[in-house]
Amino acid sequence: MRIEEIHQANRAGWNEGAQAYEDDLQERIEFLRGGGTNFCPPEYAYLKNLKSWCRRAIHLQCAGGTDTLSLWNLGAHEVVGVDISERMLAVAAQKSEALGAKARWVHSDVLETPHDLDDTADLVYTGRGALCWIMDIEAWAGVVFRLLKPGGRLYIFEGHPVANLWSLEADHFELDPDYGDYFNKEPLADAGWPDTYIGDLGRPKAEHATKYERQWTLGDVVNAVIGAGMTVKRLEEHPDSFWNSQPNMNPDLLRRLPQTFSLVAVRPL
Ligand SMILES: C[S@@+](CC[C@H](N)C(=O)[O-])C[C@H]1O[C@@H](n2cnc3c(N)ncnc32)[C@H](O)[C@@H]1O
Repeated sequence: MRIEEIHQANRAGWNEGAQAYEDDLQERIEFLRGGGTNFCPPEYAYLKNLKSWCRRAIHLQCAGGTDTLSLWNLGAHEVVGVDISERMLAVAAQKSEALGAKARWVHSDVLETPHDLDDTADLVYTGRGALCWIMDIEAWAGVVFRLLKPGGRLYIFEGHPVANLWSLEADHFELDPDYGDYFNKEPLADAGWPDTYIGDLGRPKAEHATKYERQWTLGDVVNAVIGAGMTVKRLEEHPDSFWNSQPNMNPDLLRRLPQTFSLVAVRPL
C-alpha cells in the first residue's frame, strides 16, 4: 500500500472513532468554557506564557479540538487545527463556535498541510498518539519546518515508544506479540479501540475499519527533526501517561518506565 492509501485507511478508522468525541461534546464545551485546559502535568512547563509569544499555534492531528482550544485558553491568540478526519473537525468546529474562539480547522493529511500556513506558526504542537499514524516521519518533520516562522517552536508531547511495546491487558511488563518489537519498521494493521479509549462503539471488532500504526523510535523522531533543519533544544522523558493504557498494571510500577516524552525544537532565524 502507498502512504496516501494507508493514511486514507486511517482516516476511515478515525472517522469511526470520532463517534466517541461527539458523545462528550457538551461536556468538553463546558470544560473549555470554564477555562479548562486538557494538558498533562509535564506539558505546562513547555506551554508557559503563550499570551506573550504565541500569535498562532498550529496543532497537527488535532482530533476533536479540545487540546487545540486548550492552547487558546492558555493564551495563544489564534489556533489552527489540522486533521485528516472531517468528522473530528466537525466536533472541533462546534466547540470553537460555542466558545467564540479564534480558530481555523483544516481538513488535510498532515503531509499535505496547505501552504498558505507556511512560515506562520509561533508554535507547532502535536502528540498524544499522533506520530504513530504518520508513515513518513521525515516528510512530517519537513511540514513542521515549513509551518514554523523562523524562530518558531515545535513542541511534541508524545507517547514514549517504549510505552507502546507492552501488552495492554497484562498486570506486569509483558511484550505484546505484535507491538513488542522496538525496532519494527513495518506498519501494523489493527481494528477497534482499547476499552479505556473510545471502546467498542457498540459493535464487534470485525466491524471496525482497519487502521495502520508505525512505531517510530525516539532516535527516528529526533533525527527527523534535526534532518529537517530544526535545532533540538530539549528532550525529556516522563513517567506520566496521557491515557489509561494499561489498566491492570499497578500505577507505581508503570511509572518506573517512560510513558511519554517532550521534545522542543526551533526553526533557526
Ligand atoms: C489520538 S488522536 C490525537 C490526539 C488528540 N490530542 C486527541 O484529542 O485524542 C490522533 C488524530 O490523528 C489524526 N490523524 C491520523 N492520521 C493523520 C494524518 N495522516 N493526517 C492528519 N491527521 C491524522 C486522526 O484523525 C486523529 O484525530
